[in-house]
Amino acid sequence: MFVDLLLGLQWGDEGKGKIVDAISKGYSIISRFQGGPNAGHTIKIGDKSHVLHTIPSGIFHKNLINIIGNGVVIDPIIFKEEVLKLSNRDIDISNKLLISKKAHLIIPTHCLLDQASEKSKGIKKIGSTLKGIGPTYMDKTGRNGIRVGDLFLEGWEVQYGKLKNKHLKMIANLNADISFDLDELELKFFESLNFIKKMSFIDSENFLFDSLKKGEKILAEGAQGSMLDIDFGTYPFVTSSNTTASGACNGLGISPKKINKVIGVFKAYTTRVGSGPFPSEISDKISEKISNVGKEFGATTGRPRRCGWLDLVSLKYAVDINGVTELAMMKSDVMSGIDKIKVCTSYEQYGKEISRMPFSLNSGNLKPIYTEFNGWQEDITKAKNESQLPENLKKYISFIEEKLEVPVKIISLGPGRDQTIFR
Ligand code: GDP
Ligand code: IMO
Ligand code: MG
Repeated sequence: MFVDLLLGLQWGDEGKGKIVDAISKGYSIISRFQGGPNAGHTIKIGDKSHVLHTIPSGIFHKNLINIIGNGVVIDPIIFKEEVLKLSNRDIDISNKLLISKKAHLIIPTHCLLDQASEKSKGIKKIGSTLKGIGPTYMDKTGRNGIRVGDLFLEGWEVQYGKLKNKHLKMIANLNADISFDLDELELKFFESLNFIKKMSFIDSENFLFDSLKKGEKILAEGAQGSMLDIDFGTYPFVTSSNTTASGACNGLGISPKKINKVIGVFKAYTTRVGSGPFPSEISDKISEKISNVGKEFGATTGRPRRCGWLDLVSLKYAVDINGVTELAMMKSDVMSGIDKIKVCTSYEQYGKEISRMPFSLNSGNLKPIYTEFNGWQEDITKAKNESQLPENLKKYISFIEEKLEVPVKIISLGPGRDQTIFR
């Protein structure tokens, strides 16, 4: 009787989707617990890549239930497109996808407000995906939101009208000069509502209690990454939900007592999309190589991801906050051919060396302090077991395990399902 968690430990795009898909067979239920269509989870099956935004990454397996939990926010327009894309590729979601009635709804003016808010911030913008995430969670915590279950009750349209008018006033107050055609957006929105209303809606917390009682194994899938957590991330350059382990309890209604493994996913280097501090960011030939070989472009917005060295200070912080019990290391194949690899092991701030995450990464002339490793030259994308990995990569992994005090149990060497070594 247990729930395992799978979370990103950096600034998102660690490869969560690939690992959820790779380990799904060990579970009967996969549940997304937070975030919305700001997420882009890529799963490569054969020669086809699929990008999921709202639907959990277990959807490609037969006989697996996928749940969109109460902590998720849903844009019906994006959701409809996502479902249609899957059905065009002959992936059947019927009887496999269940939605919590308590998940909140993203309405068109949430997205417009996101846009206006970002524009009004100028160079201080968050770098949001502009999917309406912040404004939707703001209405949720402000107790003004609309839950998808409300769509089946009378009177939700009144709340919709109130919200829309409130948002339009807020947009006008921001003086951000954004242009939009609300009639057109609403037409698409209401059409998509008719589509989403045909899906299966459940009281997902009750469904999960019953499933646990029956002895079923559940995997909770996180979106974004720990450094984008609203409380523990690099605030204000974060998303608007708890992306860390506690978010799974709130976002699904499961007790912390039921949690077994906490699987932390990280890249062998670091990336970040959007604004905000990134101490180990680099901008040279090596970051160019990582960006090109690793195809580091956002799965949701297509924006180039900023690249840098592995940062063990922030990674250790994420491991501790989440109580990570095992690690999945992604994309070391991308680093093949780099002569000298650096790892940030501490920071210098206000002239002093620190090894714990400080309150702000933006103050005190913060600089990364690196330990240097000899790289590996071999193409490792076809390695099938650990013995086929270069010695220098093994040393790199051992160093990470020693610093983080958690074992690396999965090594991913490419986007494909078969490019995964389980230890
Ligand atoms: P997520 O948001 O955490 O699910 O990650 P994304 O899907 O946004 O980004 C990860 C990208 O890296 C995707 O394009 C994956 O197909 C790809 N990927 C995942 N694991 C590996 C790996 O080990 N090596 C390489 N080269 N690509 C990988
Ligand atoms: P997955 O699940 C990477 C970033 C945005 C921005 C900040 C706030 O694919 O790992 P928001 O749209 O939430 O208001 O944006 O968070 N961000 C992500 N970065 N991967 C994601 O999701 C992200 N979701 C949001 O770029 O900096
Ligand atoms: Mg992503």
